[in-house]
Amino acid sequence: MTKDQASPIYTGDIAAQQLEGQEYTAKTQEIPFTDEQHAIWADLFAGIHQPYLLEHICKEYKHGLTLLQLDPLRIPTVAHLNDHITPRTGWRIERTAVRYTLADDWYKKFAQRIFLITDYLRTRDQMEFTPEPDMFHDIFGHLPYLTQEFYARIEDKFAPAYMKAAPDEREVIKRLAWYTTEFGLVIEDDRLNVFGAGTISGRAELTNTVMEFYRLGRDGVIDYTGNVFEQIQEHFVAHKNDIHRIIDGVNGLHQQGQMSSQDKGWNVVHALYEKLGISHEGYFGGEVILAPFDVETIARIPKTVYAFNPMFFVCESFEQMDALLDSYLKPIAMRD
Ligand SMILES: [Fe+2]
Repeated sequence: MTKDQASPIYTGDIAAQQLEGQEYTAKTQEIPFTDEQHAIWADLFAGIHQPYLLEHICKEYKHGLTLLQLDPLRIPTVAHLNDHITPRTGWRIERTAVRYTLADDWYKKFAQRIFLITDYLRTRDQMEFTPEPDMFHDIFGHLPYLTQEFYARIEDKFAPAYMKAAPDEREVIKRLAWYTTEFGLVIEDDRLNVFGAGTISGRAELTNTVMEFYRLGRDGVIDYTGNVFEQIQEHFVAHKNDIHRIIDGVNGLHQQGQMSSQDKGWNVVHALYEKLGISHEGYFGGEVILAPFDVETIARIPKTVYAFNPMFFVCESFEQMDALLDSYLKPIAMRD
């Protein structure tokens, strides 16, 4: 993945940033987009809406895409989005001028079942990779899901816990959201499927992920005729020590400022494997490590390494995702 070194890197950590423009009001939700912006939307849409990619995205996403009735050629209005979402799940969509939303404000809106979408659309030179989430990510990646109760239920879990959480717990909560709704994977019909909006809305990210699914089969790590989740679980248990050494090593490199860009980040990770005596093959042979969703492991990953996505986490089902998120979030949300 290449990108402009000078461009900001979206780390998932939401910067405390002053509002530059005017925030949108109830009356100013709709923006007139240029023909070029609609054309960028159309190309992004067409780039991902391909049978060979869609077959690796979970069924719920595709169902939601049908329900949301997005126009492949034009950026939807906020009114269109709300007409297709609010009657189904009660969630509302609001436009925001904030590009890196303050997490606290974001979660306050979340608690009111309001999902913010940015007014920014990536430019032509960022078609494969945008360093920060744009409206294509927000709309195409997340909103098909918000037409469905199961997803509204998942999103409903985060804000009540976040509001009562201690600062260190808030970091874990952001990471749990990151590794489910942004980059999560789920097993369906005994296959690995993409769930996260961050993966779905970036063609390069999505293609790389699908290629990793194939690599795992090709290199004999996963036998796709067998139980896929069990095999991932077995690899994870067998290599847990090395996985934690890698994460701790990445943490160390980050603290030394050696992970300042995605490209450089992966190079230093490869060097780290060598230093730790872990060969870059088999289970560790990809650009990312697939592991069963595990709160303890997720909590160890430093927030600022988000941009490198050193790991992706797999849930055995959406019911399991629900239960694992509840196991961490519910006790916090229920505090007095
Ligand atoms: Fe997102």
